[in-house]
Amino acid sequence: MKNRKNKERQEMGECGAMNVSTELRKLVLGVDEKVPLANGKYVTGINFDNAATTPPFISVMEEIMDFAPWYSSIHRGTGYKSRLSSKLYEDGRKIIKDFVNADEYRDIVIYTKSTTESINILCHRLAQESKQHIVLSTEMEHLANDLPWREKFQVEYVGITEEGQLSLYDLEKKLLKYAGKVKLVTVTGASNVTGYINPIYEIAALAHQYGTQILVDGAQLVPHAPIDMKPYDAMDHIDYLVFSAHKMYAPFGIGVLIGHKKTFVKGEPVYKGGGNVRLVSHQFVELEDPPAKEESGTPNVIGVAAFVRGIKTLGSIGMNRIHQYESDLIRYAIEGLQEIPEIKLYCNCDKNEKRVSLISFAMQGMPHDLLAQILSCEAGIGVRSGLFCAHPYVEKLLKMSTEDLEYFHHHHDVPVPGLVRISLGLYNNYHEIDLLVKLLAEIAENKHYYKQKYRQMKGSR
Ligand SMILES: Cc1ncc(COP(=O)(O)O)c(C=O)c1O
Repeated sequence: MKNRKNKERQEMGECGAMNVSTELRKLVLGVDEKVPLANGKYVTGINFDNAATTPPFISVMEEIMDFAPWYSSIHRGTGYKSRLSSKLYEDGRKIIKDFVNADEYRDIVIYTKSTTESINILCHRLAQESKQHIVLSTEMEHLANDLPWREKFQVEYVGITEEGQLSLYDLEKKLLKYAGKVKLVTVTGASNVTGYINPIYEIAALAHQYGTQILVDGAQLVPHAPIDMKPYDAMDHIDYLVFSAHKMYAPFGIGVLIGHKKTFVKGEPVYKGGGNVRLVSHQFVELEDPPAKEESGTPNVIGVAAFVRGIKTLGSIGMNRIHQYESDLIRYAIEGLQEIPEIKLYCNCDKNEKRVSLISFAMQGMPHDLLAQILSCEAGIGVRSGLFCAHPYVEKLLKMSTEDLEYFHHHHDVPVPGLVRISLGLYNNYHEIDLLVKLLAEIAENKHYYKQKYRQMKGSR
């Protein structure tokens, strides 16, 4: 701590990092709002929970205000506003495709409400057409990319290393073992616990080499780094990609599922009702073609308007630039956290490790949820604690045994171990990291005091 320089001051002169963070910060709504502390004072809130969801861009809010007076029913509406709304909704698909370099003709963009819904829809569809009954998921997935598959396929989990990185060796072993039976390899683009960026192109090439397809859960990757689905004839083509607008500064209920149209031509959609039918009698049901076929009910047009604006704003900043800035920021945070002996980081922290801007840690002798509460009450710092909806992954990182898990499963009054996660957005800055690290060091030095203070507030644990 003593040797830490003030990075912001230092870099202002050296490479203009201050300018980057100040410029990006201005794009996001609510970043300077004051939040109350336990002592009754107010401070500018610090949001380090962007992996869960991000605040909106100001441009997104302006888009909503600009578009809302023109909002109307789409597709079958014939008025001017309906035609305008339909165009915006349909044009959005192309803008989203371009953002991830999806195939202009073969791929479709299905609007959903989230990554979770996108994966459930794809799972439903692949199960209908499937002769192969195995899905290769991994031990590092968010539950959204695990539980849906369990219901309809035999799921085999690709293993991870001691430090939680995906084992390509194990992936290939499993592809070989189950050759001809694997419907899909499904893998997260970046972990929501350790921040590792997976080698998705290598994984895609391996999947194709063994005659199967790949889904990338892009919920944590797409908001933070450039992604390219690559051409269909490339071995490292990404077959399916899913992600959520609410993690991309447009939190208004939109997710997407991108993939080959032919996957969605045959079979039944998950949701049935109005909006996605051409003609229905009591004798037959004729559905629309994809993507409309999968979008039953009244579509979230304003959500699409917001998302498209969010994507345009991200594009105008540049995903490479965002990734670079956030990588520098998380590296700075890691270095700060590493200076506190009581803190253990749950990942490989090598600076060459490819990661998005999040990291999880624990403080020796301090329950994760209590620490998260202290950060909020003492300094207005919002983080997340627990198992981050990636239970098997965190359980493995924490080396919890089957017996431990059985115990927690049957004793609901016993707190489950977990971690604290900080996840940065493009508007976070070095000053905020300094405040976090300083407070964590202070808590680590005065654990007894803080535990007493906040256990009393919280009641007994
Ligand atoms: C890696 C990953 N996948 C999937 C999801 C689920 O996303 P959503 O809540 O938008 O459905 C999340 C959410 O945190 C995530 O981090």
